[in-house]
Amino acid sequence: MILHPHLDVNRAGHLTIGGMDTVALAREFGTPAYVMDEDVIRAQCRTYLAACRTHFGADALPAFASKSLSFTEIYRIMAEEGMGIDCVSGGELYTARNAGFPAARIYFHGNNKTERDLADALDMGVGTIVVDNAEELATLGALAAARGVTQSILLRITPGIDPHTHRAIQTGNVDSKFGNAIQTGQALAITRAALATEGVSLLGFHCHIGSQIFEIDPFLEAADGMLRFIAEVKRETGFLATTLNLGGGLGVRYTENDPVIDYAEAIAGIAAAARAAAEKAGVPLPRIILEPGRSIVAAAGITLYTVGGVKEIPGFKNYISVDGGMPDNPRYALYQSVYTALIADRAGEPATYRATLAGRCCESGDLIGEDMAIQPAKRGDVLAVLSTGAYNYAMASNYNRLPRPPVIFVKDGKARVVVRRESYADLVRNDL
Ligand code: LLP
Repeated sequence: MILHPHLDVNRAGHLTIGGMDTVALAREFGTPAYVMDEDVIRAQCRTYLAACRTHFGADALPAFASKSLSFTEIYRIMAEEGMGIDCVSGGELYTARNAGFPAARIYFHGNNKTERDLADALDMGVGTIVVDNAEELATLGALAAARGVTQSILLRITPGIDPHTHRAIQTGNVDSKFGNAIQTGQALAITRAALATEGVSLLGFHCHIGSQIFEIDPFLEAADGMLRFIAEVKRETGFLATTLNLGGGLGVRYTENDPVIDYAEAIAGIAAAARAAAEKAGVPLPRIILEPGRSIVAAAGITLYTVGGVKEIPGFKNYISVDGGMPDNPRYALYQSVYTALIADRAGEPATYRATLAGRCCESGDLIGEDMAIQPAKRGDVLAVLSTGAYNYAMASNYNRLPRPPVIFVKDGKARVVVRRESYADLVRNDL
C-alpha cells in the first residue's frame, strides 16, 4: 500500500491503482491523465450512506458536493449509489440533469445565483435551493410565485466557527461572503423574511464551515450552534426546522503525515453531538444532510505525467519538469497544498531525491510542490501525483492553451475513458 489501500507496487516495481499498472495506463492513454479507482468512490458513498442512516436516522442523506468533481459519469454513479447532489452553478445543474440525476435529490447552492440559475432550477424541479441572501430570497419567491409553484428552501447560515484550515477554504466565519451570521442577528432576520415570502417553503438551515478539516471539534461546535439557533428560531417565530444540512469538509490524506480518517467514526461523533445538542436545546433532531466532496473522491484519483527533464542548479535546488501543471492542478499555486509524488516506474524504490515539481506553463509559480521527496527521475519516466481526485479536474483550466487531460476510471482490471482528452480543435471551438 502506498498512502491509500488501492495504490500499490507490482512485481515490475510499477505503481498500481486498483491493481492496474500505471506505467501501462500512461502508455495506453497518454499523459497528463487523471486516473480514478471507481470502487473507491463507490465505497466512500456507501460508507457515508450507511453511517448517516445508522447514526442520524433512516432519512439522513449524504449529498455529494459535485464542485469537487463534475462530469456526466460521476452524476450517474451518485444516482446509482443513492446519494444526493450539491450543485453550485447552472453548469453543474445541467450536467447532473443531463446525466439523469433525479432533480428531487439536488441541493442548489451559490452566494450569487443569477435569475437564470434560479429560473432553470425551478424549471427542472430542483428539490431544495439553499438560499444565501435576502435579494436571492426575494427573486426566487417572485419567480416561483409567477410559476404558481412553491419551492423548498434552506437558508445558508454562518455559525461563526473557525476551523484550522487554509483561509481561502474557510466558510463558516462571521466575516464570510457566504450566508447569514447568527451572531449579528442577520440569520434570524432572513428566517423571518423567508417565512413571510410567497413561493418558498422553508425546510430549515444549512451551514458549511470549511474544507480539509481533520479535527472533529469544529463540526461538533457547528452542530451545537445550529441546533441552538433552531431552538431560538422556534422561540422567536414558532417555526420548527425539519432539515439541517451540516455541509462537507472532512479532510483527506495527501501525505503520510496526514492522519487516516475513519469517516464512519467521524459521522458517529458528529451525530452524537447533534443529538446531545438537540436535547439540550429542547428541539427534535431534524433530518440531517451532509455534503462531502473531497472525502468522497480525492483519495480515489491520481494524476499521471511524463517527466520532461531534470535540472539541478548547484547550490540551489533540483527541478523535475512534467507535461502538466497548474492548469490541471492549481492547488499548490492557490493554497500551497502538499502532495505525495512518486516515479511510477520505480515506485518501490526509496524516495531519496528532493525536487521541486515544475509544470510546463510560462510562469514561475506553476509548481505542483516544492522540496518533495521522490525517487531519482529521468526524462520519459511516468510521474504520479496522489490524492488528486478532488478539486483537480474540477478546477482545471486551459491556461497556456493546454488541453485538459482525460479522466480514466479503472475497475475490475479494466480501464475506460469517462472524460476524453481535449483536442486542439476543442480549444478553438468557441472562437469566432
Ligand atoms: N458544501 C458546501 C456548501 C461547500 O461550499 C463545499 C466546498 C462542500 C460542501 C464540500 O466540501 P468538502 O467536503 O469537499 O471539503 N477548491 C478548494 C476547496 C473549496 C471547497 C469549497 N466548498 C480546494 O481545492 O481545496
